Amino acid sequence: MTYENAVEAAEYIRSKYTGEPKIALVLGSGLGAFADELTDAVKIPYEEIPHFARSTVEGHAGQLVIGKVNGIEVIVQQGRFHFYEGYTMEQVMFPMRVFGRLGVTSVILTNAAGSVRPGMKPGDLMLISDHLNMMGVNPLRGPNDERFGVRFPDMTNVYDTEIQKMIDAAANEISAERHTEGKDREPHDFLHRGIYCALSGPTYETPAEVRLYRQLGADAVGMSTVPEAIAARHQGIRVVGISCITNFAAGMTDDGINHAEVMETGARVADLFKELLRRVIAKIN
Ligand code: HPA
Repeated sequence: MTYENAVEAAEYIRSKYTGEPKIALVLGSGLGAFADELTDAVKIPYEEIPHFARSTVEGHAGQLVIGKVNGIEVIVQQGRFHFYEGYTMEQVMFPMRVFGRLGVTSVILTNAAGSVRPGMKPGDLMLISDHLNMMGVNPLRGPNDERFGVRFPDMTNVYDTEIQKMIDAAANEISAERHTEGKDREPHDFLHRGIYCALSGPTYETPAEVRLYRQLGADAVGMSTVPEAIAARHQGIRVVGISCITNFAAGMTDDGINHAEVMETGARVADLFKELLRRVIAKIN
């Protein structure tokens, strides 16, 4: 996967859509519905795009949707490539490199994640403040092409603090409205802030592993996002991450975990999630 490959994919996308979106979104498991909100949308299936892999997991549509949210242009990855599906890290981060070539300056990464914090429950959202890369591999391993970025990227501020403040503000606005309607106990009680720990999957964790990650500082566990965050930061793209907490991680409750539950929780918070994204997009712009 070379720089030229990314340029070629970007050129193909430009041949289908002539605008210049500055904001990209990656929609995680069960969260794909936001793409249906876009107006004047152009949909490009991954298999049409040069050098793109295809998404295989249930709940992922596998297409780029480019269009507008309240008049603001966005490019949406509806369905992502997971390392556990067998894709190489280069395939997983390729869309970020294409977004970079398209001139995208901010990317919002979303995912489904398990909570390792007793006070953070299914249906809540978590703004990612930092990550633990426990996938066993770094996506930038291998020769570095300086046209993407430097050999040794700084990871001090992966998640953009300015956009985090905007997300916080958006959550406060929503909570204030829900509070008035009697839905929230306290302003802002659905959005937490925490550390996302990325595992390779595809198994969910054992209870012993969950205890380990918790001791290491994790607040949520998941199987994505970190490769894309690293690839985006490498290129100087601003990154934020939002986890939809779909379940308590293994051993936190007596229940087991299954993919259907993860998808169901995603669907349950879809409206709240969409509302948050709409407001954040307006603020970034
Ligand atoms: N662990 C890992 N990935 C996940 C989980 C989990 O509990 N829930 C959703 N994605």
